[in-house]
Amino acid sequence: MFAARCLFRALRSCSSAPSPRLKPSAKLSVRDALGAQSTNGERVKVQGWIRSVRSQKEVLFLHVNDGSSLQNLQVVADSSFDSRELAFGSSVEVQGQLVKSPSKRQNVELKAEKIEVVGNCDAKDNGFVHIHTPIITSNDCEGAGELFQVEPSSKIKLPEENFFNVPAFLTVSGQLHLEVMSGAFTQVFTFGPTFRAENSQSRRHLAEFYMVEAEISFVESLQDLMQVMERLFKSATTVVLSNCPEDVELCHKFIAPGQKDRLEHMLKKNFLIISYTEAMEILKQASQNFTFTPEWGGDLHTEHEKYLVKHCGNIPVFVINYPLALKPFYMRDNEDGPQHTVAAVDLLVPGVGELFGGSLREERYHFLEQRLARLGLTEAYQWYLDLRRFGSVPHGGFGMGFERYLQCILGIDNIKDVIPFPRFTHSCLL
Ligand code: 4AD
Ligand code: MG
Repeated sequence: MFAARCLFRALRSCSSAPSPRLKPSAKLSVRDALGAQSTNGERVKVQGWIRSVRSQKEVLFLHVNDGSSLQNLQVVADSSFDSRELAFGSSVEVQGQLVKSPSKRQNVELKAEKIEVVGNCDAKDNGFVHIHTPIITSNDCEGAGELFQVEPSSKIKLPEENFFNVPAFLTVSGQLHLEVMSGAFTQVFTFGPTFRAENSQSRRHLAEFYMVEAEISFVESLQDLMQVMERLFKSATTVVLSNCPEDVELCHKFIAPGQKDRLEHMLKKNFLIISYTEAMEILKQASQNFTFTPEWGGDLHTEHEKYLVKHCGNIPVFVINYPLALKPFYMRDNEDGPQHTVAAVDLLVPGVGELFGGSLREERYHFLEQRLARLGLTEAYQWYLDLRRFGSVPHGGFGMGFERYLQCILGIDNIKDVIPFPRFTHSCLL
């Protein structure tokens, strides 16, 4: 959602302040601008991304970089230029005079006469920085072995060699890469294709789907994480409902009568929270006969998830603290017992079941080291362990399946109906 909005806004360009007609300016890279020898008021144009904004009573300072230099170019502008769009991450085109800087920190600065926002960075609204995580990766983030392996189609190397020297796969989650980046930017997100070789033809599984993932440093409780998840669901849905009411209405009217009210109900109510242990108790007491008998330590199957949501009055429900043995190695140990759990959270929604999966991450070196050692993964995840050696902080994050999100808000029963080219076991048309 953040990504889609960023993309749309990036396609529009808007000027932050009206400007008089000016002589055309010479285009300079940040590197060339910083290295300019003569600064006799020459008019120049610089394009780049805003790295910081400092707004004072009468002056606005922007630091702009285009990647040509490690140093930023300081842009000094009249405070009348100030606008919400001049924010970290936005791309701008600045025209003005290159002048000698009164500060010792830089030789020159750009006195702005015109600032045009080329691409607005909406992510800043929520303080999240968009990261493009790789599609080809050597890790199995979820540890479930549901990987598609990537190899050249023709043998361009000796058959026993891997193209990348190590086995490489299509990503099952950008989480581990986001964890690296959250160490630099605190709050980060990604939105991209995700691949799982799950042998399932169910109404909620695809082999290729889109996932929005967020990772947040300094998060110490599942409560904080759940607040972000609930806000994401509600704010994204509010935007969709107000920006494309006709499209939503079409689905609600012809495909899912009653869905409009069900969705409004979800948006109005506070989401509920129950523990996995409580969920198991509810399921055991259910009058319904399940295909999979609910038992502590066992997976929550779709039939269980749907029952739980109904039991909770068709309000989305967070299920927290799952058995350690059920969840991937990166989830934070709750150090409880004898029923040992981790700080995991899934959000279950009406009609679909699991929509979000997330957790606090195990940020403690020795805990993580022991988990990895038990799984025989220490060597492969040395880089991930190292993140816990250099300024590790409590952190957490989550992922939301985009197609399942569409199913949930539009009331569409089969995931294959919310994507034009569904890929699943035994089917990869076109
Ligand atoms: O619960 P999952 O596996 O969580 C992760 O991948 C975490 N690493 C995310 C994170 O913490 N950054 O997947 C997240 C969500 C699920 O809740 C579901 O909505 C969706 O991704 N999902 C699928 N959607 C369609 N088809 C599949 N095969 C899916 N598998 C997961
Ligand atoms: Mg999950």
